[in-house]
Amino acid sequence: MTEQKNQHILLTSRPKGMPSMENFTFEDIEIPEPQNGQVLLKTLYLSVDPYMRGRMNDTKSYVPPFELNQPVSGGIVAEVVQSRSGELEEGDLVIGNLPWALYTTAGEQEVRKLDPELAPVTTNLGILGMPGLTAYFGLLDIGNPQEGETVVVSGAAGAVGSTVGQIAKIKGARVVGIAGSEEKVNYLKNELGFDAVVNYREAGNIRQALKEACPDGVDVYFDNVGGEISDAVISLLNKYARIPLCGQISLYNLEKQDVGPRIQGQLLINSALIKGFIVSNYASQFGEGAKQLGQWLQEGKLKYEENVVEGFENTIDAFLGLFKGENLGKQLVKVAEPSQS
Ligand SMILES: NC(=O)c1ccc[n+]([C@@H]2O[C@H](COP(=O)([O-])OP(=O)(O)OC[C@H]3O[C@@H](n4cnc5c(N)ncnc54)[C@H](OP(=O)(O)O)[C@@H]3O)[C@@H](O)[C@H]2O)c1
Repeated sequence: MTEQKNQHILLTSRPKGMPSMENFTFEDIEIPEPQNGQVLLKTLYLSVDPYMRGRMNDTKSYVPPFELNQPVSGGIVAEVVQSRSGELEEGDLVIGNLPWALYTTAGEQEVRKLDPELAPVTTNLGILGMPGLTAYFGLLDIGNPQEGETVVVSGAAGAVGSTVGQIAKIKGARVVGIAGSEEKVNYLKNELGFDAVVNYREAGNIRQALKEACPDGVDVYFDNVGGEISDAVISLLNKYARIPLCGQISLYNLEKQDVGPRIQGQLLINSALIKGFIVSNYASQFGEGAKQLGQWLQEGKLKYEENVVEGFENTIDAFLGLFKGENLGKQLVKVAEPSQS
């Protein structure tokens, strides 16, 4: 292994507003030696996710902040290249929450072995992994869409949003997406069968555009973005509407707290429910969720896109692209080919 180089990405300062390359440092390091019970892993794919922005702040949240001068970490698909574990062999593909590094070691309990025959391994970071499960549990448990109801989803062309809309269609709802480009609008309408899609960047008066797209009002609003888009949707709620509060990406890079319309009155007069959730709340049911998503995928009822940026050196660009709407579907970074291929 010694002829290979290793590198990791450290968070070296906390971003104020939109992060930039300056907040991160690529550092050359030795390839670590696995200890008993550990494996040496070569990163194949890494996932960049909006929630990572929150971990870059030094504030209390549902996960601790990333530590300064330590590697950023997240969902990674990797190959076992050396094993001192009785459970994993060289050539096995695994998934885990691992540091952004070319090579790393992990205990056998810290990773889960993948079966590449079941589905492409990248789906474990997307439609069959954390984002897919977020869509599944948030929509079905909190949104509870019924046949003929109108479901609106913001961030509709992303990893979570595109899955939410398709599950809502499976449940017989009328689905309206909100997304930021014509390419995304066309994809959602023509490929995924959304009933209507509003391009919030082009709409001008977003409330008016949504009103036209939702002539019967809004029964379920799956909120991925927050801000003015959500204010507009919430003004169109029907009685007993449900809002799974999944993300607020439009606010993640604001330097000052945003003050919007007070929405409580809308919730009150419509007897509406709004409920925040974190996908890990459903950890005990992940097996059931992944099985159902996998079945829908096999039956052709669910489709997915992946936006794959090539090269570890482009990881930060890929991460920042999430806040500029550069991704259609799940944003991934391809770091290396498996040795076996
Ligand atoms: N609660 C949980 O457990 C949980 C788990 C996973 C994800 N999430 C949240 O779910 C949301 C979607 O996550 P994802 O992984 O599926 O990401 P994603 O949607 O694949 O990527 C982010 C997308 O957000 C949109 N966006 C970025 N800035 C925006 C802005 N200022 N206003 C409106 N839209 C904006 C962009 O699309 P456009 O081109 O359409 O703008 C971008 O492509 C995020 O808020 C994330 O934090 C929550």
